[in-house]
Amino acid sequence: MIPTPHIELKNKDEIAKTVLMPGDPLRAKFIADTFLEDVKQFNNVRNILGYTGTYKGRRISVMASGMGMPSMGIYSYELYKFYDVENIIRIGSCGGYTADVNLYDVILAKDVWSESSYAKVQGGYESDVIEGTQKLNESLIKHANELGINMQIERIHSSDVFYRENFEEYKEIYDQHGCVAVEMEAFALFHNAKVLGKNAACLLTVSDNLVTQEATSSEERKNAFTNMMKIALEMAE
Ligand code: HPA
Repeated sequence: MIPTPHIELKNKDEIAKTVLMPGDPLRAKFIADTFLEDVKQFNNVRNILGYTGTYKGRRISVMASGMGMPSMGIYSYELYKFYDVENIIRIGSCGGYTADVNLYDVILAKDVWSESSYAKVQGGYESDVIEGTQKLNESLIKHANELGINMQIERIHSSDVFYRENFEEYKEIYDQHGCVAVEMEAFALFHNAKVLGKNAACLLTVSDNLVTQEATSSEERKNAFTNMMKIALEMAE
């Protein structure tokens, strides 16, 4: 069933086995323009830009996920199920739930807690915690060490809601579940990988902090996450 409703690839060879997924299409374009060689764009449906190229001579693709679990759920499902993608590494931003997490810190999500119904509705999964794929995490840790980039390995929160009426609730999520930061996509990605027998990981850069109220601008977020991108790009095969 290709092309699929949301990805216009006609030939599976146009996409690599490993796909990096930022939320923002312009970040996907930035990564392709800045780091990849021999780049070919393979998707533009709904401006969800997708590219395949080489990094240090090895093949890799980068495509946006959009924001939130419904969007990540659609794109990661189609990539895994219909285009033979094996590995998806989300590269996103997150908000810190503790003052110990500083702007621009890189976090590897070893597992993710969520109150979302995504996994239950998609496949009857009852738990509210899902782990990333260990072998991808081990590779990412190795690459971070080799690059000399400090990376924290933590549990994070995937939320369906960016603007909560009671924003102080993040303190309970930190206390009760040990989530050090919040984003909005990893739970759906990890679930899809699990049900389809594929591999997923999630690398995050801290873009704001709910405790200290520090934040980065959207321009800084587009360009300044190079440490995280370099770790992820080493996954090219
Ligand atoms: N909430 C949810 N997702 C995010 C945040 C946040 O504060 N910051 C970056 N992604």
